[in-house]
Amino acid sequence: MHDESELNKQYQEKTPQSAKWHKRAKKLFPAEGATHFARVLRPHRPYIKKADGVKKWDLDGNEYIDYVLGHGALLLGHNHPDIVKAVQEQVSKGVLYGENHPLEVEWAELIQEMMPIAERMLFCACGNEANMMAVRLARVITGRKKILRLEKHYHGWADELASPAEPGVGQDNVVVIPQNDLEKLERELAKEEYALLLTEAGGAFLGGRTPIDPDYVRKIPALTQKYGTLWLLDEVVSGFRTAPGGWQSIIGVQPDLTTLGKCIGGGLNVGVLVGRADIFEPLNPGGNFSRQVMQGGTWNANPLTASAGIAAGKLLKTGEPQRKAAEAADLLRKEGNLILKQKGISGAFYGDSSIAFLYLGPVDYDLTDSLRSPVKDLAKLTSPEKATIYNRLLLHLLQRGVANLIGSIFILSNLHTDVHIHKTMQAFSDSLEGMLKEGSLKNNR
Ligand SMILES: Cc1ncc(COP(=O)(O)O)c(C=O)c1O
Repeated sequence: MHDESELNKQYQEKTPQSAKWHKRAKKLFPAEGATHFARVLRPHRPYIKKADGVKKWDLDGNEYIDYVLGHGALLLGHNHPDIVKAVQEQVSKGVLYGENHPLEVEWAELIQEMMPIAERMLFCACGNEANMMAVRLARVITGRKKILRLEKHYHGWADELASPAEPGVGQDNVVVIPQNDLEKLERELAKEEYALLLTEAGGAFLGGRTPIDPDYVRKIPALTQKYGTLWLLDEVVSGFRTAPGGWQSIIGVQPDLTTLGKCIGGGLNVGVLVGRADIFEPLNPGGNFSRQVMQGGTWNANPLTASAGIAAGKLLKTGEPQRKAAEAADLLRKEGNLILKQKGISGAFYGDSSIAFLYLGPVDYDLTDSLRSPVKDLAKLTSPEKATIYNRLLLHLLQRGVANLIGSIFILSNLHTDVHIHKTMQAFSDSLEGMLKEGSLKNNR
């Protein structure tokens, strides 16, 4: 048995105010006091009172370099001056008109300019909602009920989108198959039963924790067209984080539908379903469909989010923030892999975008640089028994002023500089030492 109590004690001493609020939260929020599954941590994640740029501060004044960045929404960091200005100006002009307004048109035109498949679009409150609408439309258009999905790909928590393993999830019409298996995909599609194929851009979870083979994705459109299924490429994470045209512009594909969210709202909540005009025809009250699809949603294209979205879109359109964030992620991966090697710890940082993933465990490729996956068997990248070790790493990192997502995911922005990365990697190195010392991690020596 190793002694992990020392770090827990130090962390509690460093975050007494957070501990106090967490005690209150536990009486309110069922997931151990957290309001999102990725915010659960024992004893607790810090309670934040302020954020700016790439940093955030907790109630006890502790500073963190932030790699959560609003679950990936803040490619431009916290409080970008253009977004703050736009939102401040809009607040005094009204936050919710419940009417048509020019900002929604301007915002949509900006999105259309960046993503040519966006002939029509629907603004929703979040990515989950946008994917739900895609399911609905695909069923109306194709006259089919069934939905085809790829293992571990995340699209939200609604019935057709959630993991089939979750209790209470109604998925009578959902079939989940492994990614990268073209034969299996064709076998399913050939049944001509599926309304929609949903895939996450980049791979499963946050745009590629389990990377997908781009060549596999490039073959999807010919198959879905052949068998009459619509294809949705979910770019809620990758849309405008990877490039102004999204991941689809990088690998050169044109899905029927795409969902966007996160970055495109400049930090305010949004989801957008975009795609071919004919697929949206069921929403047209004068259209030919016997049953019209209705889109409700109090917050759809609200002027406040639209003002932030326009400000963010103008910056993202240049491609410069994406380039900088990807460069920062490359440096983090490179330094991280060197540290792992120096310490004789099996594992690797990987990923090919501005999100860096850490895998701890034996690798099949000797990495000093980034690669799409360090192991052949992709299931290893997310094996559940590793969660304890990543959580432990997270606590060590928090104690040393670094906040990331579930211990193993580092989401970067265009504001992360070499100095931030070096500091982070020093904290990572010290954390690994701490883990070796307490026995929660072993090296190969
Ligand atoms: C790929 C992907 N799709 C959809 C969603 C759901 O978006 P939202 O959280 O805005 O509902 C997420 C959320 O993380 C996501 O990562």
